Amino acid sequence: PFKKLKDGLLSGTSSEESKDAAGFDINENESTVSITVVGASGDLAKKKIFPALFALYYEGCLPEHFTICGYARSKMTDAELRNMVSRTLTCRIDKRENCDEKMEQFLKRCFYHSGQYDSEENFADLDKKLKQHEGGRVSNRLFYLSIPPNIFIDAVKCASLSASSGNGWTRVIVEKPFGRDSESSAALTKSLKQYLAEEQIFRIDHYLGKELVENLSVLRFSNLIFEPLWSRQYIRNVQFIFSEDFGTEGRGGYFDNYGIIRDIMQNHLLQILALFAMETPVSLDAEDIRNEKVKVLRSMRPLQLEDVVVGQYKSHTKGGVTYPAYTDDNTVPKGSLTPTFAAAALFIDNARWDGVPFLMKAGKALHTKSAEIRVQFRHVPGNLYNRNFGTDLDRATNELVIRVQPDEAIYLKINNKVPGLGMRLDRSNLNLHYAARYSKEIPDAYERLLLDAVEGERRLFIRSDELDAAWSLFTPLLKELEEKKIIPEYYPYGSRGPVGAHYLAARYNVRWG
Ligand code: NDP
Ligand code: BG6
Repeated sequence: PFKKLKDGLLSGTSSEESKDAAGFDINENESTVSITVVGASGDLAKKKIFPALFALYYEGCLPEHFTICGYARSKMTDAELRNMVSRTLTCRIDKRENCDEKMEQFLKRCFYHSGQYDSEENFADLDKKLKQHEGGRVSNRLFYLSIPPNIFIDAVKCASLSASSGNGWTRVIVEKPFGRDSESSAALTKSLKQYLAEEQIFRIDHYLGKELVENLSVLRFSNLIFEPLWSRQYIRNVQFIFSEDFGTEGRGGYFDNYGIIRDIMQNHLLQILALFAMETPVSLDAEDIRNEKVKVLRSMRPLQLEDVVVGQYKSHTKGGVTYPAYTDDNTVPKGSLTPTFAAAALFIDNARWDGVPFLMKAGKALHTKSAEIRVQFRHVPGNLYNRNFGTDLDRATNELVIRVQPDEAIYLKINNKVPGLGMRLDRSNLNLHYAARYSKEIPDAYERLLLDAVEGERRLFIRSDELDAAWSLFTPLLKELEEKKIIPEYYPYGSRGPVGAHYLAARYNVRWG
């Protein structure tokens, strides 16, 4: 296809043809990147993908020659797409630095193409449009599948057969959910691999793009003080906690088919756990890191029903306002048993982590929005200062908290002498508070991941064997929950979740942080 286009360009001699659609002079030895957002009319595209692309442009991270194309069934002109996109763009870095001008320049590089997801013909038309913008340069193409999972394969098929690059790379970012159990995930992988090689597939888990999750490996492997403590010898338990202070508002239809275990635990929290617990990789190379993560997942026991608590939020009235129950959502079937909360104890059967409970807790419509990793250390043996803590020895142990969001921070709870003539101890924090330490704003996870995909960096994307291992841990439990129709523990909207989570933790001598 490149040859044909090149010939076409060479045979045309008018002066306009030496410029591309964005007005740049064409040099065929240069390369260009075309990013097609498939499902551009949707929620994720508006909320996250276009703003992330703009932020990358603003920071000068996109190559000189790039085109962004929205693709969806909705009828829209380029101007309408630009208008839609412009409403969600923000200049988060520094409003004074020509933000409006940059936005305008960015929007000029955004185009729209309307088509069906299962039409090779429509994708062939897209291909023609992309070629016009690429102007005969080496064309690299990134497709972001921001569409419901039931149409992933249709879109991948048509994109790969009719719109992949003829002379550069073609990559596809696939959004979750990657199936709903081991079988459906394997079927999805198999179908994707009919059209794409594994190196072309970028399975996104946006939690891996979060700043503090990226920092986990830096913390562990570039500081002498943490790694020696990172084992069953010193760590009593580790907690991965996700909570949102809103319900499934607007996404109940999607959510009911998945539930919180698939939505958050099997991917976001498990990925963080794997990074937390992995051995030192041979290098920072994507394959070396992913090899170590897979080893952790394969050393874990599949979840047992008795190690899991599930909950669902119910309506609650507070201060005269009534917050709805999960099943009040019109898109959720009445009587749905889908969990909106879950707590679980997991174990890694290897030499480093034998017997250490890894606890996960994830819930919607809770009292707060946050995501944290909490590492609780063992008691100091024969602690000289125990009497300061009375019988509550738990309070005397060190705890390392990595607050992924909001208000990113890493702090270590230590015991400290209260200044004065007496000998009284209290708990204080050694505190790295990002907002106080770093003036630059933290990039959104989607910015990092989109940039990595453009650059071909796979470290933060999920490899298919990782995905298989992750599903193997959760599939038996998910089947059992569904087959036995386990009734969730109901908790009021805005509360701390079901009390069962505390009993579960207590069984392993753990108190939630
Ligand atoms: P949407 O439901 O908004 O769908 C995106 C677009 O796909 C729609 O604008 C619509 O475009 C098209 N579409 C929707 N339903 C159908 C259908 N049944 N058949 C054919 N086309 C359809 O999805 P989101 O933007 O919310 O999410 C996109 C992907 O990202 C999903 O896989 C989702 O699970 C995932 N995701 C979303 C998150 C979010 O916050 N929204 C967070 C994490 C992941 P048109 O009609 O114009 O063709
Ligand atoms: C998505 C889930 O993957 O992550 C949503 O599908 C959830 O249910 C979202 O709300 C949370 O992401 P963040 O980045 O806002 O914590």
